[in-house]
Amino acid sequence: MEFPFDLAAVLGDRFCVVDQHLRPAGRRGPTHRGDLEQQLRTVIDELGKASAKAQGLPAPVTSAARMEANRHVLYILRDADGRGTPKGAVIGFLKVGYKKLFLLDHNGAHNEAEPLCVLDFYIHESLQRHGYGRELFQHMLQSERVEPWRLAVDRPSEKLLAFLRKHYGLADAIPQVNNFVIFEGFFSNRPAPP
Ligand code: ACO
Repeated sequence: MEFPFDLAAVLGDRFCVVDQHLRPAGRRGPTHRGDLEQQLRTVIDELGKASAKAQGLPAPVTSAARMEANRHVLYILRDADGRGTPKGAVIGFLKVGYKKLFLLDHNGAHNEAEPLCVLDFYIHESLQRHGYGRELFQHMLQSERVEPWRLAVDRPSEKLLAFLRKHYGLADAIPQVNNFVIFEGFFSNRPAPP
C-alpha cells in the first residue's frame, strides 16, 4: 500500500508501534512534527478502511481518531526494501488491546478476565500468504510478552482462524456468547507441544 510521502520518515522502524499518542518510537529527527503526524493519521485511516473492506465490515474499526480514544496498540509493518516504491509501502497492520470480558470456561461458568485481544489485522491483498502476517503477529507476541493461547480474538474471519490454526495450533475454540473467540489453554497452562 503506497502513499504520496516518505513512509520511513513517518513510521520510523520497519515494525512501527503506535499507541494513543500517535508517536512512533523509532522515528528519527524531531519527534513533534505536524506534517508527519498528519501523514501518520492518513496511513492509519487508510489501513483501517482497507481492512474493513477486506473483511466486508460496514465501517472501519481502526482509525487515527479511534486510536487516540482507546488504549490500543497498533503494529504497522513497512516494506523497507524500497524496490520499485521509492517512498516505501505499508505491508499491513495488527491492532491489539486489553479488554475486560466475561468469558465462559469449559464448565459454562462465567469468568471475568482482561486478556489481550486481537482487534484488527490486515495484510495487503497482494502480499497475503507470503508470511508477513506471521512475522507481524510474532513481533506483537514478543513485544507484548503474551502466549498465543492467552489471546482473545474479536470476530475472527475465516482467514484469521486458518492463520491461527496453522501457525499456532489454535484449533479448539471454547464456545462463548460474545463475539470473542478464545482457544483451548486460555484458562490453564497449555501442555507443551509434542
Ligand atoms: N484463505 C484461507 N486462509 C488464509 C488465506 C486465505 N485467503 N490467507 C491467509 N490464510 C491463512 C492460511 O492458514 C495461510 O496458510 P496456507 O497458505 O498454508 O493455507 C496462512 O494464513 C498464511 O500465513 P501468513 O502468510 O503469515 O498470513 P497473511 O500474511 O496472509 O496474513 C491475514 C493473515 C492477516 C488474516 C491476511 O490473510 C488478511 O489480511 N486477510 C484479510 C483480512 C482479514 O481477514 N483479517 C482478519 C480479520 S479478523 C480480526 O482482525 C480480529
